[in-house]
Order: sequence, then structure tokens, then C-alpha cells
Amino acid sequence: ESAEKGGYEHFMLKEIHEQPKAVQDTVGAYVKDGAIDFTEVGLTDETLKNLERIYIVACGSAYHVGMAARYVLEDMVRIPVEVDLASEFRYRNPILVPNSIVIVISQSGETADSLAALRLAKERGIPVLGIVNVVGSSIARESDYILYTYAGPEISVATTKAYSTQLIATYLLAVQAAKVKGTIDDKRYTDLIAEIQTLPGKIQKTLDDKERIQWFASKYANAKDIFFIGRGIDYAISLEGSLKMKEISYIHSEAYAAGELKHGTISLIEDGILVVGVLTQKNLFEKTLSNMVEVKSRGAYLMGLTTYGNYNIEDTADFSVYVPKTEEYFATSLAIIPLQLMGYYVSVAKGLDVDKPRNLAKSVTVE
Ligand code: G6P
Repeated sequence: ESAEKGGYEHFMLKEIHEQPKAVQDTVGAYVKDGAIDFTEVGLTDETLKNLERIYIVACGSAYHVGMAARYVLEDMVRIPVEVDLASEFRYRNPILVPNSIVIVISQSGETADSLAALRLAKERGIPVLGIVNVVGSSIARESDYILYTYAGPEISVATTKAYSTQLIATYLLAVQAAKVKGTIDDKRYTDLIAEIQTLPGKIQKTLDDKERIQWFASKYANAKDIFFIGRGIDYAISLEGSLKMKEISYIHSEAYAAGELKHGTISLIEDGILVVGVLTQKNLFEKTLSNMVEVKSRGAYLMGLTTYGNYNIEDTADFSVYVPKTEEYFATSLAIIPLQLMGYYVSVAKGLDVDKPRNLAKSVTVE
């Protein structure tokens, strides 16, 4: 097993470091000569052009990819996107309109609820696009269109590289759909693809800063509660950051839409509680910052996660983490890296079984 870990202490750390390559391989599979090519997926421009609504259905971290993708797709393509937990979707008798598509996102391709959601969509005559990592899995076989992610085998229960490749799949889909629907012009199309191609290098750069996170994580390993706040895409990032923290470190954590704090959660803030503010979106920066000021005045210890250049975060945050600048649509791919590392290092500092956390399974094939 130690050979399989390639010199890393845990599979999770190895997989975190494999993200530049996993993302590169996924981009490389669908970008040819500066354009997106979905021939392998079976998805034609004609199909994308006729789309009037998208439903994204998934569980766990794949659901969080859907949450991030909704902001990207709606803003870029201007069509409504609904995101559902598969376990909810399958029992709520969903209204599925014509000219729509159901996107099922799943690393394993075997999650019972996601598979049931896929079957429900097909029974209703709605085509299904699977975004799946495991070749030949049930969801891959039963989908009408299949967009494989190229993360390679993922062993650690807490997903990292599969999540990162799923994000890429949704970006490519958004950019291609925006092009055929005419919501972006040719220049923007080319620029967005070029930016996606820079992500592996920027993820690598973020990984190179890991020691600061390791130091910070060891300081907070005994925390009882951690809150993650953000708005828009930063809220989607917070959801995944919080899940990473709780699943492997057993620290109670919650992700909250920053503007919603005052409707309840702020009553939980007391001296020394760690609040992580995520601020990658320019138009929301000041808004989330003011929420950070609110929790700070109630005693919270603040970590700010933002992009290089936003150094005024240091006027408010007690500890600041910077990620490289990218197109704001793609910020999740970079901002999630320090949060994965934080979950990992807290778990290690507590001496927990990082790769096999209690009560959790890699693939949930029963309901
Ligand atoms: C389990 C895993 C998660 C994963 C979820 C969905 O809970 O621990 O990491 O996000 O299942 O799995 P899937 O294979 O459908 O992506």
C-alpha cells in the first residue's frame, strides 16, 4: 500500500497533489486546437442550442459541483438551472419541462440515489448527461450522453481530484453552450478556454503554498465549531470546504450564505470561534467583508480566503490566504485547494484515519 501512495503519507494527500494532472487530462480530452469538442460525449451543438432548462442532480461533493455550476451556467448561458440532491429529487415528483436535460454528476457512477434520479428522468423522457469518473459504471452506461472526467482512480473517501475534474466538465459545458446560444462572442469563447487551460498551473501554484495552511491547521485542530461563509460562487466553495472539514476531521462545521448569517447562525458566534470567509467574487467582496466584520465584533477569529491583490482583507481577517487570479467563473478550482489542505492537515494533527473516516463509504450503493 505504501508504494501505491507514491511517497505520500495518505492517499488523500497524494490525490490532492494529482489535481493539476487530473484537471489537465480532463481539459485535454475535450479541448482540441483551442475549441471544445464534445464528439466523444455525443453532445451536438444542435442539442445545446435547443436547451431551455438544466437540472443538475448529485450527492455529496458532486452536489457541491452542481451548486457552483449553477452560478456559472446561469450567468454565462442565461438559462435556468435547478440543482437537487438526488435523494430529494427522486421523491419530489419533479416538474421536468421539455427541451431540458438532466445532468447527473458522480465520481463512482454507482451512487444509488443518483442512479435512481437518472432512471426517473429517463422514464419522463428527459435525456441524461452523466459526468462520471468510473468508466463503464452504471450511471455511465445508462446515460444518453457521457462526459467522462479523467481523475483516475480515487481511493481516499473524501474526494478531491474527482471533484476538481467535475468542475472542469461543467465549465466546458457552460462555455460551449454559451457559444452556441450566442451569449458569448468568439473572442470571449477563445479567452475562456485559454483561461481554463491555465488552471492546472494555478492549482500547482496554490499547492506550493501548503505549508502556511499546515501551520494554521495545527493551530485550529482543537476547534469545536468552524463556520464557512460566502456569497454566490463563494457560497458553493464554502459548502465543499465545510464538508471536507467535517468528514475527515470530525469538527462540527457549517457553510452559510453570508447574507443569511443574521437570520440565525450569528447567535452561535462567540469568542475564538473560527469563521472562514471566502471572497473570490469582486461584486460580492464588500458584502461578505461586512459580514466578516459583524462576526469579528462578536469575537470570531477570521480567516479570509481571496485572490492575490485583495490585500485589504488583512484589515479585517486575522489570517489571510491568497490564491492566483483567474476568471471569476472558475475561482472554485483554486479556492477549494487551501480548504482541502486545511481539512487534511487538521485530520492529521488530530491523528485520525484520514483516508477512511468513520461511518463513511467511498461509494454509497444502497439507499
Ligand atoms: C460519498 C463520498 C463523497 C461523494 C458522494 C457521492 O458520500 O464519500 O465523497 O461526494 O458519495 O459519490 P459519487 O460517487 O456519486 O460522486
